[in-house]
Amino acid sequence: TLGPDVVDVRSLTSEGLFTYDPGFVSTASCESEITYIDGAKGVLLHRGYPIDQLANECDYLDVCYLLLYGELPSSDQKATFEHAIMHHTMVHEQLHQFFKGFRRDSHPMAIMVGVVGALSAFYHDSLDISNDRHREVAAHRLISKMPTLAAMAYKYSIGQPFAYPRNDLSYGGNFLHMMFSTPAEEYKVNPVLARAMDKIFTLHADHEQNASTSTVRLAGSSGANPFACIAAGIAALWGPAHGGANEAVLNMLEEIGDEANIEEYIARAKDKDDPFRLMGFGHRVYKNYDPRAKVMKATCDEVLSELGVQDDPLLKIAMRLEKIALEDEYFVEKKLYPNVDFYSGIIFKAIGIPTDMFTVLFAVGRTPGWIAHWKEMISGPYRIGRPRQLYKGYDQRDVSGD
Ligand code: ACO
Repeated sequence: TLGPDVVDVRSLTSEGLFTYDPGFVSTASCESEITYIDGAKGVLLHRGYPIDQLANECDYLDVCYLLLYGELPSSDQKATFEHAIMHHTMVHEQLHQFFKGFRRDSHPMAIMVGVVGALSAFYHDSLDISNDRHREVAAHRLISKMPTLAAMAYKYSIGQPFAYPRNDLSYGGNFLHMMFSTPAEEYKVNPVLARAMDKIFTLHADHEQNASTSTVRLAGSSGANPFACIAAGIAALWGPAHGGANEAVLNMLEEIGDEANIEEYIARAKDKDDPFRLMGFGHRVYKNYDPRAKVMKATCDEVLSELGVQDDPLLKIAMRLEKIALEDEYFVEKKLYPNVDFYSGIIFKAIGIPTDMFTVLFAVGRTPGWIAHWKEMISGPYRIGRPRQLYKGYDQRDVSGD
C-alpha cells in the first residue's frame, strides 16, 4: 500500500498518553482518499492520477470533478458539470457594495478573506450542510464564483468598473476576460494564456493536509458553513511560508535585480543569523523536485515564447538561481528544491497580473481541493478537531498570595 508505516495512537491516548508534534511533522490528522504525496520521490497523485498527466491531458474542470467526485468525468458528466460551474459565475449585485467598503489600496487577499466569508450571508440554503444537495450547490457556487471575486478585487484596486463574467469562455479564459476587459475594450483571450491559467489552477488544485486545507477541515469540524470554512482557508494561505510565497518569489527576484548578485543572496539564505530564506525553495513534504514545479517551468517557457519575452531578466535570474542552488552543498544536504511557487510568478507577471494578485490566484486554484476535503470529512463520521497542548505556564497560584 501507499504511505509510510503508521502508528495509531488512539488506544494510547485513551490510557492518558498523548503525542507532542509541533508543526504536525509526523502526525496524520485524518484519513483521506483524495491526494497522495511521496515527498522523497517527488510524486503527487490526485485520486491515483499523476499531476503531470492531469495538467497536460485534462483541464481544470476535469480535475475539480475528479477531486470532488473521485473519478474523471465522462463527456456527459463533464458537460453537466461545466454548465453548473460556468452558468453560476455571477455574484449578487449587493456584493458590489461590500467591495466598496474596502480601501482602494487594500491587499486583494484581505478583500478575499472578507468577501468569500460574506457569501454565507447571500446563500442561506448552503448553510444547511446536513443536506447533500445543499452541499453540492455550495461546492459549485464556490468554484464558479471565486474567479469572479478575484477579478473584482483587482478591478476595485485599480478603480475600474467590474467586468461581468462571460459563460461562453473557458474557466481560465473567462478569468482573463474579467481581469482585463474594460467598457472601452473587450479583452481578446489568447488561447495559449487561457490554457496556461488553466494549468496553473490545476497545479494548485489540491495538496493534501497543507496549512490552509487543514484549516478548512478544522473550521468545518465544528459544523461551520462552507463559505466560512473556505474564508478560513484563504486566511491561512496568505502567509509567505504558504501561498504568499509566489508573491515573495517575485519580490525576491526583483530585489536580487541582477545575476551578479545571486551568490550574495544564496550566502544570506545559508546564514543562520540572517532571517532571509530563498523564497520558492524547500517544502515540508517534498525532499525532491516538486513535480508541480516541473510542469510550471514548462508552462512558463510556453507563455514567454508566446509573448515573445524569452529574454525576461527575472526569468534569467530565476534559472541561474535555481542552477546555483541545486549545486550548492547547503541546499543539496537539506534537500531544498524549487517548489510550485518558484515559476508561477514569472508567468503571472508576463500575462500582466500584478504581484499582489498572485496569492489570490493560488486561492482560486486551491478551492476545489479545500471543498473536496471539507466534503470528504463531513460525509463520514468525524469529530470536532481539538488538538491538545503541552502546558508550560505557572503552577496554580493565588491572586491574593505574596
Ligand atoms: N532557504 C534557506 N534555508 C531553508 C529554506 C529556504 N527556502 N527552507 C528551509 N531551509 C532550511 C531551514 O533553515 C532549516 O535549516 P536547519 O535544519 O539548519 O534549521 C531546514 O532547511 C529545514 O527547514 P524548516 O523550516 O524546518 O522546514 P519546514 O518543513 O518547517 O518548512 C517551508 C518548509 C516553510 C516551505 C520552508 O522550506 C520555507 O520557508 N521555504 C520558503 C518559502 C516557500 O517557498 N514556501 C512555499 C511552500 S510551497 C507551498 O506552500 C505551495
